[in-house]
Amino acid sequence: KIYPVILSGGAGTRLWPLSRAVLPKQLLPLVADKTMLQDTALRVTNWPGLMAPLVVCGNDHRFMVAEQLREVGITPLGILLEPVGRNTAPAVAAAAHHLQQIDPEAVMLVLPADHVIENVAAFREAVERATRLVAAGKLATFGIVPKTPETGYGYIRRGEPVAECGDCYNVARFVEKPDAATAEGFVAEGTYYWNSGMFMFGAARYLQELEEHAPAIAAAADQAMHAAYRDLDFCRLDETAFSACPSDSIDYAVMEHTRDAAVVPADIGWNDVGSWSALWETQPKDTNGNAQRGDVYLDGVKNSLVRAESRIVAVVGLEDIVVVETQDAVLVTSKSQVQRVKQVVEHLKSKE
Ligand code: GDD
Ligand code: MG
Repeated sequence: KIYPVILSGGAGTRLWPLSRAVLPKQLLPLVADKTMLQDTALRVTNWPGLMAPLVVCGNDHRFMVAEQLREVGITPLGILLEPVGRNTAPAVAAAAHHLQQIDPEAVMLVLPADHVIENVAAFREAVERATRLVAAGKLATFGIVPKTPETGYGYIRRGEPVAECGDCYNVARFVEKPDAATAEGFVAEGTYYWNSGMFMFGAARYLQELEEHAPAIAAAADQAMHAAYRDLDFCRLDETAFSACPSDSIDYAVMEHTRDAAVVPADIGWNDVGSWSALWETQPKDTNGNAQRGDVYLDGVKNSLVRAESRIVAVVGLEDIVVVETQDAVLVTSKSQVQRVKQVVEHLKSKE
């Protein structure tokens, strides 16, 4: 059986000032009418062979997560609460332990809560193909043909074809977040994919790999799950054990080291909405290429994203910019510099 595991712990700092610690991007209706978490959960609902999703999130978000799922009629398999954020390797480990208690043969389909997938039929087809890789003991990744030398992604080098599955490949190399020059080389090379951040593997298989490549995380997650307890509809990880867990992503802790990864090339209309320019790409635009929301006045503006929440926003004679107005903060930046919004949040935090 396949269990979707939805990771909903990120802060989405590059989408400040809309995305905040109390209300991060996955809990916002950023792209469509539903929140990204709701869209993610709905995307894997009513598939033959797929169980109800297990959501892993921070303690602070528990009621919002539960309420948002209820709103769209989804009863999750469970909601696993992290007392502190320790990045994705421990979150996936806790989920793996949880699932193994229910089903020792559990297969996990790990899904970030904050991605857009336009072609759901193609996504399903990719998951079906990944099933064959998982049956062969592989850790399956979903590869996206890279468009630009983006440095915020993992890169997967395609190796030998896998016999069990047509157009699937062993991973020859996995490089998480390379520097700009390296990323440029990868894109020019033509045998690299972007890592989509979605994974599929047996729960036991993942724990085995974690044990080998990051034993401290494996041990801490194991302890935190052993001492976990139920609270209403939630399952709370033990605070002492989980706090003692090293913080690392699944990409650095496992995927860069495993010898058993495989990649399913996936042309699925994927976008991780990691920045304001990525969001602009997903939005419907007017004839001048502008994506606008709220009370906005534009004159001579092109290829821009302008959002107003609580006031009128007027922009005149500018191109390729981002303006985001909220009640207590306003962001103005050029679309090419949106990655630097992360530093704004760091600066604000340092002043707290
Ligand atoms: N529960 C939980 N706990 N979820 C978390 C935590 C945590 O501590 N940290 C992050 N997440 C969630 C985020 O909300 C997001 O949905 C997902 O896990 C991935 O985390 P990000 O922090 O967004 O990772 P990234 O974007 O830097 O990189 C990953 O995704 C890229 C594609 O979007 C990597 O897998 C890259 O290799 C990949 O290219
Ligand atoms: Mg991300």
